[in-house]
Amino acid sequence: MKDILQELEERRETARLGGGQRRIDSQHARGKLTARERIELLLDEDSFEEFDMFKAHRCTDFGMEKQKPAGDGVVTGWGTINGRMVYVYSQDFTVFGGSLSEIHAEKICKIMDMAMQNGAPVIGINDSGGARIQEGVASLAGYAEVFQRNIMASGVVPQISVIMGPCAGGAVYSPAMTDFIFMVKDTSYMFVTGPDVVKTVTNEVVTAEELGGASTHTKKSSVADGAFENDVEALAEVRRLVDFLPLNNREKPPVRPFFDEPGRIEESLDTLVPENANTPYDMKELIHKLADEGDFYEIQEDFAKNIITGFIRLEGQTVGVVANQPMVLAGCLDIDSSRKAARFVRFCDCFEIPILTLVDVPGFLPGTSQEYGGVIKHGAKLLFAYGEATVPKVTVITRKAYGGAYDVMASKHLRGDFNYAWPTAEIAVMGAKGATEIIHRADLGDADKIAAHTKNYEDRFANPFVAAERGFIDEVIMPHSTRRRVSRAFASLRNKQLKNPWKKHDNIPL
Ligand code: HXC
Repeated sequence: MKDILQELEERRETARLGGGQRRIDSQHARGKLTARERIELLLDEDSFEEFDMFKAHRCTDFGMEKQKPAGDGVVTGWGTINGRMVYVYSQDFTVFGGSLSEIHAEKICKIMDMAMQNGAPVIGINDSGGARIQEGVASLAGYAEVFQRNIMASGVVPQISVIMGPCAGGAVYSPAMTDFIFMVKDTSYMFVTGPDVVKTVTNEVVTAEELGGASTHTKKSSVADGAFENDVEALAEVRRLVDFLPLNNREKPPVRPFFDEPGRIEESLDTLVPENANTPYDMKELIHKLADEGDFYEIQEDFAKNIITGFIRLEGQTVGVVANQPMVLAGCLDIDSSRKAARFVRFCDCFEIPILTLVDVPGFLPGTSQEYGGVIKHGAKLLFAYGEATVPKVTVITRKAYGGAYDVMASKHLRGDFNYAWPTAEIAVMGAKGATEIIHRADLGDADKIAAHTKNYEDRFANPFVAAERGFIDEVIMPHSTRRRVSRAFASLRNKQLKNPWKKHDNIPL
């Protein structure tokens, strides 16, 4: 009996070494942790339960039958993050470069199936040379099995991808279909075709980092939602994100203990909006002042900065925040900001996370590049996302809410539950100057007359009261009491029930 126990321990020991000490050392020398070290950091101490530690590939080509490392290049299982269950897979670059074989894929699919059945998020740590070259089509089939499960799990359990090494070719499409992608600066990259192929086909010379590094994907392509300095920071931030999320779509988001007065008055908000309507201010200040303990988890911080998306808690409950940022492009909506916010709104709606919208928007960005780029379709994504969302929606207009953008930003007409405005709000078809120049074109040569018309327009529309008279604004509120108002609004909506008509699925303008 003792021998058998001893043998198990030895087998485990060998499996834990993956591709061997030399390759582990080389992984460390690159500033990367091993698959198992990553899992240890991600999960609560001693909470990891592994599956399929001894599963090995069945390939007999290219001499593969002579090397059959236990686990086949991926560590899978489940554990907890602050006591809440998650399923995890972590690709082991020390075993065949973390490449995906038929068996490697089977292991990932197993935990994805369990995650869907048992209602817990899936976190995938990617560090792989892609399809296992020796296995050919069996490996491609394995990828497709994973893809299919990513699709089925979408909107059922949160899926998070952490890219901690290479992720190239078709392999990128699994993370691409998950809810969030995080990357590590300098050690991870994602691209459909690498620098060599790019050079051959397009003659462009580009490094892997430039083509698909963390900076590229968080600032230019928006493929990734966040970039972190190293493995340790990335995994700590994933833990922080998971704390905001429900485990699945049948469950409400977690309620955390909070130590912040829901009725906290913030006098400084009364002077947040500058006297001059064209002077920017930092909308993040408002978000931080509203949030429990000032804690804000931003998503896509470095992309389309004219809109801010992320999570806060109010009275311990997760709330998704979408806010125009007057500091960047005056907070206008454009292609990038519409896409960014639409995806975020849809994520919140899938997982029953209430949405707080903070509005200061001068309209859609004009220009040929926007029109040629399809701003009509992309803007419609955000409109569609807000309109179909059935979660509690609370909106606060701090300043401008002009034109179509007024409608889009969770207006009353898109089934906003509470639509508040600060006294500084200006709700109109457009700014006073532009409006005057159109409706009083005949007076354009007379500066005094134009000034008088502009003043008249401002007096009439540069306020929240016309909209309030019609009930489009439920209440004009004091900026200093916004946290109290918004917290109470969400509290009153905890049992909200709203259903869209039956349909197979909608046809959001993609
Ligand atoms: C089998 C692989 C492998 C792969 C790497 N290895 N990629 N084994 N299949 N795809 C092995 C290497 O043989 C090596 O084994 C070890 O992993 C580490 O690889 P190195 O090349 O030494 O490491 P490094 O210099 O860091 O380069 C990493 C790399 C490079 C950039 C990922 O290995 C590479 O270019 N690999 C091939 C990538 C690729 O073309 N994959 C297929 C893409 S197509 P030893 O024994 O020496 O340690 C694809 C399609 C998916 O993925 C389609 C889904 C629809």
